[in-house]
Amino acid sequence: MTVALEKSVEDFVTTPRKLLIDGQWVEAASGKSFATLNPATGETLAHIAEADAEDVDRAVRAARRAFEQGPWSRMSASERGRIIWRIGDLIEAHAEELAQLESLDNGKPLAIARAADIPLAADLFRYMAGWATKIEGNTISLSVPYMPGAGFHAYTLREPIGVIGQIIPWNFPLLMAAWKLGPALATGNVVILKPAEQTPLSALRLAELIAEAGMPDGVVNVLPGYGETAGAALAAHDGVDKIAFTGSTEVGKLIVHAAAGNLKKVTLELGGKSPNIVFEDADPEIAIPGAANAIFFNHGQCCVAGSRLFVHQSRFDEVVDGVAAIARDIKLGSGLEPDTQMGPLVSDEQLRRVTGYLDSGRSEGARMVTGGGRHGERGYFVQPTVLTDTRPDMKVVREEIFGPVVVASAFSDLDEIARQANDTPYGLGAGIWTRDISKAHALAGKIRAGTVWINCYNVFDAALPFGGYKQSGWGREMGHQALEAYTEVKAVCAQLQT
Ligand code: NAI
Ligand code: MG
Repeated sequence: MTVALEKSVEDFVTTPRKLLIDGQWVEAASGKSFATLNPATGETLAHIAEADAEDVDRAVRAARRAFEQGPWSRMSASERGRIIWRIGDLIEAHAEELAQLESLDNGKPLAIARAADIPLAADLFRYMAGWATKIEGNTISLSVPYMPGAGFHAYTLREPIGVIGQIIPWNFPLLMAAWKLGPALATGNVVILKPAEQTPLSALRLAELIAEAGMPDGVVNVLPGYGETAGAALAAHDGVDKIAFTGSTEVGKLIVHAAAGNLKKVTLELGGKSPNIVFEDADPEIAIPGAANAIFFNHGQCCVAGSRLFVHQSRFDEVVDGVAAIARDIKLGSGLEPDTQMGPLVSDEQLRRVTGYLDSGRSEGARMVTGGGRHGERGYFVQPTVLTDTRPDMKVVREEIFGPVVVASAFSDLDEIARQANDTPYGLGAGIWTRDISKAHALAGKIRAGTVWINCYNVFDAALPFGGYKQSGWGREMGHQALEAYTEVKAVCAQLQT
């Protein structure tokens, strides 16, 4: 039986949603709107005002005013922190409502949204709330060789960058909004957030909660719209001081070009093709479900998905068969069915992209141990799939698939596996499964990736920095490292008259 929706959720989706600019809910300047779909059925879920360049321009001007005139910029760090903390409280108070919106709009199982997306988002705001009062510079002793005997008092300040454009994807809609907003607000910036066109709902509800938490007008503006229009306008706008983007590597490169006009700062969290490595001495009780979770969590729609599974040759059949058995048992269905373990992909576009990769793997000679195609006729479901007999040059091995598809291959020694693990343009995540701690840490040091998990996978925490090496991105999110990406360092140097 399908979970009954909360009344607030019914009301939220049946009312056309607007843009948030300067604290006001407004129609798009063009008067246009677009539909967000339920990916389990392909039916329209809600209508949303569609932002474009003119709305971006208005939001940028509102954000600039909020940044320069206050009250936000004149607030004490403690007051700022308390507002951010209240956002976490309000997310928690509305957890069921947000989980239902997320499940409807993205397709993920409600139980996952309840257990992971929503609590992680609340926790991120609380973690960042604590940092608001702890943004510190240094005092620095100077030696200035050409000014012998002179005395100085020199120090650094960490100041907000200003107007931040944030463009986020659809795989963890609320959580990605939290990862972006939390550090930007803790450091005193103002934001224009563009949610993904596939999943705008939870960010719009979050915006209401942010206002309820006491956020002044214009500090957080939310502009749902398409990437090629609203997103591109935001990335190119001269009044934006920084762009933070999560999404495809392809669009990440477009953002870098667009940012060149005013040399705005850029941070990027992009694609991945993460290696997950199971050694001969791994505990099968944790490594097999761990390898399955690494790829199948969120239907494989994780930038960090463990999509290249490397298994020591002595354990290859056991591990691959084990992962395939788990894949076959996964119950696919609408996110709102209580027994669903995997929902649909987010869109028809993603369904076609992922099944296209499956066709390419098949035609290049890969073997489908299990899965290999679409599931059902309605909605955007794909069978959890395990591929073997691949070669390193196949598309399914080289490119990010972003679906529940893992390619498995065997390896024999440590040096070889480090080379194979790094044989990718990406460098986001990696997994290592072994009982030998020396081997684990030695390999962790050799892998060119922003996160290495040992005997676990997909462990995220607001305190743990996250981001990519190589073409997986620039900069880090979460942890105190995220604050660096949202502050400018000012050096102040005073000569003392002694
Ligand atoms: P995308 O990169 O096109 O979309 C992500 C965000 O960027 C969305 O908000 C979109 O509206 C915006 N965007 C798109 N084009 C833009 C442009 N020219 N300027 C500014 N913003 C723009 O990703 P898409 O098309 O949804 O998915 C394609 C592939 O991207 C996936 O198959 C997957 O491989 C990868 N991806 C990676 C994600 C990650 O978490 N790193 C998340 C989503 C997708
Ligand atoms: Mg795209």
